[in-house]
Amino acid sequence: MKPRLFTPGPTPVPETIQLMMAKPMIHHRNEDFQEYLSACHGKLKYLFQTSSPVIILTGSGTSGMESLVSSVMGEGEEAVFINGGKFGERWGELLTHYQITHYEITKQWGIPVSSSEIIDLITKNPKISTVFLTHSETSTGTYTDIKSITSDVKAKFPLVKVIVDGITSVGSHELRMDEWNIDAIVTGSQKGLMIPPGLALVAIQNSLIEKIKNQKSKSYYLSLQEAVKAHSGNDTPWTPAVSLIIGLKYALEMIEQEGIENVWKRHQLLGESIRRGVTALGLKLFSTSPSNAVTPVYLPEGVDWKKFNSHLKKNDGITIAGGQGPFTGKIFRLSHLGYYDIFDMVTIMVGIERALKACGYSFKVGSGVAETHNYLMENMEK
Ligand SMILES: Cc1ncc(COP(=O)(O)O)c(C=O)c1O
Repeated sequence: MKPRLFTPGPTPVPETIQLMMAKPMIHHRNEDFQEYLSACHGKLKYLFQTSSPVIILTGSGTSGMESLVSSVMGEGEEAVFINGGKFGERWGELLTHYQITHYEITKQWGIPVSSSEIIDLITKNPKISTVFLTHSETSTGTYTDIKSITSDVKAKFPLVKVIVDGITSVGSHELRMDEWNIDAIVTGSQKGLMIPPGLALVAIQNSLIEKIKNQKSKSYYLSLQEAVKAHSGNDTPWTPAVSLIIGLKYALEMIEQEGIENVWKRHQLLGESIRRGVTALGLKLFSTSPSNAVTPVYLPEGVDWKKFNSHLKKNDGITIAGGQGPFTGKIFRLSHLGYYDIFDMVTIMVGIERALKACGYSFKVGSGVAETHNYLMENMEK
């Protein structure tokens, strides 16, 4: 059976990249490798739309988040984070772990934070130096308008830094780091970058780099002070994930060839096609502000998650994601992040219809598939 992966990370890896990563191993303190590293350093700036450095760390996305929390916050500085899902919550856990005084804005899952909520909190707590945001909250499929929030917050508090978890938004949503004045953004390799898990990419504005250089990280391995120093010499502090960095270079080339604006547009169209397809089946979307990376959908009354998921997997080789935290067993999540096209969207809709039918849900077979397909036919080729 052909395996079909529709999870919001890891995401499918293009065959050409798999082959490049399978080449004989090379040594990392060597010119061959340094050419790969330097090419990635250059191309990553295009991905993040920045002229500042993008640091490559070995570790999953969380390592990039941890590097920021442990290296950026100065003595006595306070932070705010948004708890509206599993990954927003992670900023809070990291701040607690590093004993940084912080404030939480709690949001109902599926509803994004607004600028005014953040501004009110900073007004009441002027020691807040940093806002930690999540651009695409993967547990709820919710998009936060970081462009407006950054602009509004900085208009009122010009010195406040905005740090963004872009782990599932980089590649799937418009993101212009310099133009939008964002101080740091982190992503992971196994998401929109279409390579296996194991790298975190951390883009940091030059002004924040200067701050980082003048203080000591609370982390040893994830110290951005060390990583920034090494980056300036086209090097890494420790042995990097060599094969992944080779894969990264080819993935960034694919993105360059397609054009970053086209990549964002493709994700918007694929996401919309799935939202329309599941709605046509009579299913209800979870988020009020949908992410273009992943679509969470309520399971209809009477459809059991375990049975539904097992049908997808055992009968059709399809892996999707379930709900997390309080929504375990209540929603399912379909990914359209990374290496996907029109055929993949039609395929996943066929799989969803087949599993719904097997679970006894009644609907007109083909209605979801037709909606997804028609929408993409009408809009994708324009
Ligand atoms: C938005 C977001 N933040 C953080 C993470 C954590 O990344 P990782 O599992 O790569 O450490 C994920 C992973 O799915 C994510 O989607």
